[in-house]
Amino acid sequence: MSVLILGIETSCDETAAAVVADGREILANIVASQVEVHRHFGGVVPEVASRRHIEALNPVIATALSEAGISFSDLAAVAVTHGPGLLGSLLVGLMAAKSIAFACNIPLITVHHILAHVYACFLTAPDTTFPLIALVVSGGHTDLIYATSHSEFRLIGQTRDDAAGEAFDKAARAMGLGYPGGPAIERLAREGAPTALYLPRPMLEEQSYDTSFSGLKTAVVNHLHRERQKGNPVNLADLAAAFQAAVTEVLVTKAFAAAADFKVKTILLAGGVAANGYLRERFREEASRRHLRLVIPPPALCTDNAAMVAAAGYYHFLRGDFAPLTVNAVANLPLTADFAV
Ligand code: KG4
Ligand code: ZN
Repeated sequence: MSVLILGIETSCDETAAAVVADGREILANIVASQVEVHRHFGGVVPEVASRRHIEALNPVIATALSEAGISFSDLAAVAVTHGPGLLGSLLVGLMAAKSIAFACNIPLITVHHILAHVYACFLTAPDTTFPLIALVVSGGHTDLIYATSHSEFRLIGQTRDDAAGEAFDKAARAMGLGYPGGPAIERLAREGAPTALYLPRPMLEEQSYDTSFSGLKTAVVNHLHRERQKGNPVNLADLAAAFQAAVTEVLVTKAFAAAADFKVKTILLAGGVAANGYLRERFREEASRRHLRLVIPPPALCTDNAAMVAAAGYYHFLRGDFAPLTVNAVANLPLTADFAV
């Protein structure tokens, strides 16, 4: 009999629930995006996000169960993101998961949001083997991870300031492209030439797996100011393409350097920014040149969803790693909090 896990994700601005069988088969994957609400403010408003989660979560869970054709009594466990993320938002999902675990008398599993992104790759390719390097590029994180087993994940590089997705969002805002910035920059960049202007590649040469994108965002702002002051029209498509190329070159360089240094044959790319077609293509080219196995989830599993939470939860389930009903949400939960590394 298969292990059915309900996943719940409310760490930011997507209210999501999913049912996954044995960590690999998605029976339902429902995402209610709040992007239209937050667009008016140019970014996610935490208080508004929490309220929206409260309104949306029960219907989203009900839809996930009915689409999967199951009821609460069929569940083996409920898995939920308990951090990192917006505290108020996380609490909505966590309280719902606790209630379900208590009422159905099933285990509660808490999942680290960044590891959930990594598990979107196991959902995509269940035969993925360790050791591996995983790069998670999201709105809040640029985490480079070395993993040797399902319970040994080591953070080897992170952002020193803005995360990759944050840089996309801030650069897009400076260009007047609105929120969220990633998809808007990708669309515009298709019309532009990445070599039309050169933007800095922060920390590219440094012997560190850390990244820093705030200087790149400043370079975009400065370019806009300079050209406007001179009265020159700014080619936004070229700027978007140059920006995307700069971020991509840094990410590709760091990830593949880590793969070589740690002598791994497998690279995983995940998180919202991994939905970017240009980044995906550059990773594919580099992986094939170096004969490495690369796993990138389809775009819908790169951005926030609950299928990845349920998939990660499955591996916790297998080793009996359950949370007490007293567990709390942690806004800045460290990556290794759940593991002895
Ligand atoms: O993983 P995610 O959905 O949420 C967080 O955990 O943060 O990532 C959201 C981030 C946003 O910054 C968004 O602009 C970026 O992912 N993003 C993209 C693309 N789609 C989403 N960045 C670049 N290109 C895209 N196509
Ligand atoms: Zn995320």
